[in-house]
Amino acid sequence: MGYIICITSLKGGVGKTTTAVNLSAAFAWVGKKTLLIDCDPQGSATTGVGVNKKRIGRTFYDALAGKVPLEETVLDTDLEFLKVIPVRGEFLRAELELMSKPGKEKVLRNLLADIKKRYDYIIIDTPPSLNLTSINAMTAADRMLIPLQCEFLAYESLVQLLRFARLIKKRLNPDLKLAGVLLTMYDMGEKVSQQIADNARRHLKKIVFKTIIPRSVQLREASSVGKPLLVLDDESVGARSYIKVAREIMVRIARYESNN
Ligand SMILES: Nc1ncnc2c1ncn2[C@@H]1O[C@H](COP(=O)(O)OP(=O)(O)OP(=O)(O)O)[C@@H](O)[C@H]1O
Ligand SMILES: [Mg+2]
Repeated sequence: MGYIICITSLKGGVGKTTTAVNLSAAFAWVGKKTLLIDCDPQGSATTGVGVNKKRIGRTFYDALAGKVPLEETVLDTDLEFLKVIPVRGEFLRAELELMSKPGKEKVLRNLLADIKKRYDYIIIDTPPSLNLTSINAMTAADRMLIPLQCEFLAYESLVQLLRFARLIKKRLNPDLKLAGVLLTMYDMGEKVSQQIADNARRHLKKIVFKTIIPRSVQLREASSVGKPLLVLDDESVGARSYIKVAREIMVRIARYESNN
């Protein structure tokens, strides 16, 4: 049965999409059947795995609107075990259509129920705001992964998001748990990076992944050419970091399952 992990943050530009793309690639790299769902109308995860938006037929929103079954929107990528459900910019229309649906927060959850068992991991990239689509992602998810950019002001919005997640858990998805907080864009040469990392570990303790994603020109460049970094350079520090995060997640889930 697949684990659904949504990548969420209230702040923009913190590395959600970079994490969604490279973490999905990392799971696929270690042989896990993985599905990346692009839930952000910016479509950066779609282009991040090399899908040309002009060539897309049906998208995620066609499935949300009930026009096609979700599996008909799934596309191949460069990696054998990585599939993607792409998105284009039909965001407002899709949100409006969702609004009028009964059980509108659970539409994605219900759609995924049909295909969840075909994958080991399903990773959802979300927009940097709390709208109906991101609430659908959190309602569908088993785990929430929160990227925390190593800079000032990042911490406050994390606390707000954790509060919101508790609300989602209470009202919509009692099974929602935290996969962890992932420190991103860590710059060894910057004092502020160290401060944010120390602060996060002091307050959030084991919730924070041991692996830290470094600031890496290669990660940035890979996203601009539409490839997970692993595909370009599987020995790079950025790619290796995401493989380590994937392994940490697998260990956490296995530990949780053996205790329950
Ligand atoms: N570890 C990293 N090192 C260097 N650059 C990075 C790293 N992670 C992300 N970036 C770059 O930072 C920018 C923002 O990253 P990304 O798009 O992943 O953030 P996001 O949270 O998805 O943004 P949005 O909220 O707009 O969806 C991008 O240009 C990306 O290439
Ligand atoms: Mg993004």
